[in-house]
Parts: sequence; structure tokens; C-alpha cells
Amino acid sequence: MLGSHVWHPFTQHALEPATPEIVLTEGAYLHKADGARILDAISSWWVVTHGHRHPRITKAIETTASSLDQIIFAGFTHQPAERLAEALVGLAPTGLDWVFYSDSGSTAVEVALKMALGYFRNIGAPRSRIVVMEHSYHGDTIGTMSVGARSVFNAAYEPLLFEVDTIPFPAAGREQETLDRFEAGSRDQRAAALIVEPLVLGAGGMLMYPAWVLSELKRIADASGTLLIADEVMTGWGRTGTMFACEQANISPDVLCTSKGLTGGVIPLAATLATDAIFQAHYSTDRQKTFFHSSSYTANPIACAAALANVEIWRDEPVAERIAALSARQAAGVRRFGDNPYFADSRATGTIAALDLRTGSAGYLAEIGPRLRTFFLDRGLLVRPLGNVLYLLPPYCVTGNELDGLYNAIEEAGERFGSNP
Ligand SMILES: Cc1ncc(COP(=O)(O)O)c(C=O)c1O
Repeated sequence: MLGSHVWHPFTQHALEPATPEIVLTEGAYLHKADGARILDAISSWWVVTHGHRHPRITKAIETTASSLDQIIFAGFTHQPAERLAEALVGLAPTGLDWVFYSDSGSTAVEVALKMALGYFRNIGAPRSRIVVMEHSYHGDTIGTMSVGARSVFNAAYEPLLFEVDTIPFPAAGREQETLDRFEAGSRDQRAAALIVEPLVLGAGGMLMYPAWVLSELKRIADASGTLLIADEVMTGWGRTGTMFACEQANISPDVLCTSKGLTGGVIPLAATLATDAIFQAHYSTDRQKTFFHSSSYTANPIACAAALANVEIWRDEPVAERIAALSARQAAGVRRFGDNPYFADSRATGTIAALDLRTGSAGYLAEIGPRLRTFFLDRGLLVRPLGNVLYLLPPYCVTGNELDGLYNAIEEAGERFGSNP
């Protein structure tokens, strides 16, 4: 008997040690029932931006909950959703004029894929191929797994996954190969969309590529009429140094997916932003052209109010300055490892830093993963490596001293677990 009825995500219960119980969250910390606190160096799966329980977001939730709860969003609207949509259109790259709400990163991506196929069907030139980037991750539903890398995460479900066209990851020095493959593959104009994680591929191993590659992908997509879907579920809300990663490539995608940091990481909400052309393809007196998608909790008013408070924090607090300072610290942090024999490929994009531990075993299921997790947890640090890839993706309130402590622990982990080539 495990003493609990909870089946945790991405957890092999037969192997895991007892699950710590968290009773309080505050700033960059999770507090355990025994009073000890853990520094949340991965922003609780990349959601928390300003810090846990920012008082302004908590207050917005309390206030809104006293007048509104879930309202059916077909045929009705409410101020939090209206005001948030207006704010998002103002913040997103230009040309994304329509906001469709859902409740998670996966649903935001599902909506994006359906919008792309609906667009081509409704304009009378159906296209159904989706082009994806090698090592991508877009979620865990059947559709999002289909556009993600085939791996141990989805091996059991592979018979249900639809076929996609894959372009290689634009590794340093091989970027042109990616662009050439996309260009050659899109000439027949069968691709409805290219979906990418802009600048940083998260679950695929915190793989980073330069902004000019993203600009070129958009140029090639435009030439063949292929839509570009930017999955900014992880990269949005400052993670890569700018509000959205697409800004660094100076592009406006046709569709943009956002979730995680949308509410500051406090409660679930997602939005898929689309161009007017995509909306207009669905705008018709013909009911068959309706965008047929919804989920029960679409545009939850309390979640929308939390997101609005998040937008106000961006407006009123020096968030950009905090991000710039954290980004500089992360760049300096990984530089420390440039000639460390136990690590390879130390890298940073904005507030995200990653480095590969040299070890006998790589890949998500590498034995080293759980051992590293325990090593860090014993030191009061929540670091959750992707196999042998160690990364730090902290909330923006993390201090320089706290980061120094994290990098010291990583150095120690290298000496303990790394193999010297
Ligand atoms: C780039 C990207 N897209 C989509 C998702 C799926 O988001 P969710 O877990 O909220 O469904 C994730 C989650 O990590 C992600 O990193």
C-alpha cells in the first residue's frame, strides 16, 4: 500500500522515493510539511515567472472569485476575457488579432493545428501535412504527441499518432541543412503548417538555435503559403529574454500558442492567437465553416483575471530589468563551465541555461537522471534533469546568491557523477 491514491505524472511509482508534501509556496521556494524549503530552480515545470504567489495575482483571483465563476463561453462573454484578449493582441507580435482561449499548453497547440487545417479547408484549397522540427515537444495529447518527437514518452501510443514531415534540428554549423530541407519539402504546397518551439526546444533537451534561423523558416513558409505556428508555451513571457521569442527573429507567426507564464504560472489558462486571415476563413454564413473547438473551462474568468494581473505586473514592475539581470547571470553561470571536463555544450538563451553532463548513459531514461534529482533535493534544490541535460529555468525573483548556490551544486554534481573523457 502506497499510503496515497494519487497517480503522479511522469512518475514511476515503483522506483520513486516518498513524495514530499508541499504546504506553502512563496517567491522562489516550495515549503515542505517538515518546515524545510526547496529552491524551485525549474519554476515548477516552467510555469512560474515572477515567483510563487505574487500578491497581485492572488488578489485578482480572490476579487474575481467573489463575482464570477465558470461561464459557458459559447454565446456569452465577460470582462476578464475581453480585456485580456485586448491586452494580448497589444503584447504579441503584430498581426495576431484574434485570441482563442483554452486551458493548457497541449490544448493551445491542438487548437493551432485545427485552425491551420480549418483555414485551408475553408478557403477551398485543403492541405493536411504538418512539418515539425526534430526533437520537438508540444504536449501529451494524441495530436500534440503526433507533432512531437517519437521517443520513450509516446512509444506505447505510436499506432495512433499521425504522420508528419520532420526537418532536422538546426544544430550549430548545420542550420542551412534545416532550411534546405524545409524549402525542398514545402515546394509541393501540401504543408498546412510548420510548428516550432522558437529559439529553445524544451523537453527535447533545452536545445537552442539562433534567431536568424527562425526568420528564415518564416520566409520559406511564406513563399509556399505554409502557416508558421510558434509554440511559445515555454518560451513566452520573458523566458528567452524578450516577452515572446519570436520578437528576436523579428517575425510575426501566423499562429502563436501561449500558456504556462500567461497567468504568471498561478492557475491554468492558455490562448492561441491567430491572424485575421485565419479568422476570416472561418467567418461565414455557412455554419460548416465554424471553428469547431471548445473545452468546458474555456476562458475561465478567474484565470483570465489572474492573467490580466500578470499583464499589469509586466506593465508596472521592472520585469524586463529583472529578466535582463537574470539573463546576464545565466550567461556568466554557464561560462564557468566552458572548460569544465565533466560538462559539454554549456549554453544559455535569456533566462534559460543548460549544460550536458558527460556520462556513460544519455537519454531521458538514463539512470543518472533520478540520482541527480536526489542529489539536488538533498541540498534543498529542485533541479530536474532531462536525462543527462542539467538546466536552470528559475523564476525571475531568484537572487544572484541563490543562482551561485545552484551553479556550485552543479559543479559538485559534475565531480560526483560525471565521466572525464
Ligand atoms: C513547448 C511546449 N508546448 C506545449 C507544452 C504542453 O503544455 P501543457 O503541459 O500545459 O499541456 C509544453 C509543456 O511543457 C511545452 O514545453
